[in-house]
Amino acid sequence: MYKAIIFDVYGTIFDISSLKNNMPDFDDDLATSIAKLWRETQMRHMFLRQAMQRYISFDELTKETLRYALDVHEIQYNREDVNRLFEAYLDLTYFKEIPRALSDIKAKNIDLGVLSNGSDNMLMPLVDNSKIAEYIDTVISVDEIKQYKPSPASYALVLEYYKLKREDILFVSSNTWDVTGAANFGFNTVWVNRKNEVFDENGQQPTITVNNLNEMVKWLEMNK
Ligand code: LAC
Repeated sequence: MYKAIIFDVYGTIFDISSLKNNMPDFDDDLATSIAKLWRETQMRHMFLRQAMQRYISFDELTKETLRYALDVHEIQYNREDVNRLFEAYLDLTYFKEIPRALSDIKAKNIDLGVLSNGSDNMLMPLVDNSKIAEYIDTVISVDEIKQYKPSPASYALVLEYYKLKREDILFVSSNTWDVTGAANFGFNTVWVNRKNEVFDENGQQPTITVNNLNEMVKWLEMNK
């Protein structure tokens, strides 16, 4: 049995498709398009910044990429508009099975943590001070080492916190690049394939694939 299960945050615990609901000034198609480009650019900049070794914190990066998404859609904005849209990141909705699944895992005496590229000022309101805080023992931000996942050093942070062996840890993410990075580091991984996507294989495969966390809890039951 695993001693600790570590979760990714955005897209895995929290539904980022809810971002577009915080754009009342735009019609649904426009809001969807902006939110999509925003997230795609955010990921791209994360990987670029990691490759270039030009880290900036995730809140800055998230605002920067929001401005780009608005520019592409030819929308005028000021600093307050950007802050208001960004604030949706501090109040995302979690996927509906989350509290129950986390409490089932906790009942097995497994430690629960998150490892996120998000900066502390983004993770605090979302995780530390939220309804799911009672289930999460450890909140780890890569900001501590200024390296984004999927760099090996980012996953190594988990070992520093937990003083466990890699094989005692199960890493859970909906993001295929994150599963790839964690598997590359040597963790067993769960890919939460919520949207019926194809795993973009890049030298690593998840240990298991599930559609939601309830399925993962069942799998843990069977693999005691
Ligand atoms: C996370 C994002 C980037 O690390 O998915 O939580």
